Amino acid sequence: MEMHMLDSLLIRRALPLLVSFIMLVVLALLFDYFLHVAGLVRVGRYLGVTGTFFLLFSFVYSARKQKIVRSGPIRTFLRLHCRGGWIGTLMLLVHSGVHFNALLPWAATALMLIVTGSGHVGQYIYRKARDEMKHGAGGEKLYWDSLTIKALGQWRKVHMPLVSLFLCLALLHILSIFFFWNWK
Ligand code: HEM
Ligand code: HEM
Repeated sequence: MEMHMLDSLLIRRALPLLVSFIMLVVLALLFDYFLHVAGLVRVGRYLGVTGTFFLLFSFVYSARKQKIVRSGPIRTFLRLHCRGGWIGTLMLLVHSGVHFNALLPWAATALMLIVTGSGHVGQYIYRKARDEMKHGAGGEKLYWDSLTIKALGQWRKVHMPLVSLFLCLALLHILSIFFFWNWK
């Protein structure tokens, strides 16, 4: 009985996040296919810029944490981070579908997927913590709190270098586009 409850909790928390990640890839393939069939491949070009804007927008969460943005519930900003990151990733996946010539931008795309996947793992850690807190009592809450802080700390040690590497590759791609202006 106990195990069964654990299982269903795991599924309830993990499944939506898993679906969210799979939807990203499936929708990207569908949109890309549609653009090719409709002869609108050039739209994918512009999605590079808009997707980048969405990713940049998703960093409002960091701005809120650094108190550059001073008011508003932090949870709302985390939600904006996730939504913005998700939509941006989707647009950039479709944008990537225009070509398969250059290695550097494709490395950026692969890393972007890994970073977004890692974001989903972070979100899972958050949701788990939220549930444990809801059901726990005083001392137990402190215990879960410390466990969560530790887990998030370890997660960040992996997440942050991945984000940095992704941003470097994305920037190199964007710079090379503007430098060579090979916007064919
Ligand atoms: C301001 C943002 C961006 C602009 C203006 C831009 C522009 C472009 C252009 C013009 C191309 C076509 C190059 C060609 O036809 O040879 C391209 C291709 C591509 N871009 Fe971007 N891009 C941007 C952001 C991104 C980001 C953030 C990623 C990765 C996450 C990315 C991934 C790719 C990929 C994978 C390709 C296909 C490369 C290939 O030919 O194999 N782009 N981009
Ligand atoms: C390419 C897309 C993404 C990028 C570049 C990105 C980048 C980042 C960065 C830089 C942080 C650290 C924030 C800070 O401490 O200032 C972060 C944290 C986080 N991200 Fe993302 N992220 C992306 C997508 C996502 C998505 C789609 C989700 C949700 C499913 C998500 C969930 C999280 C969570 C839960 C945290 C932890 C927040 C915290 O501990 O304060 N991320 N992400």
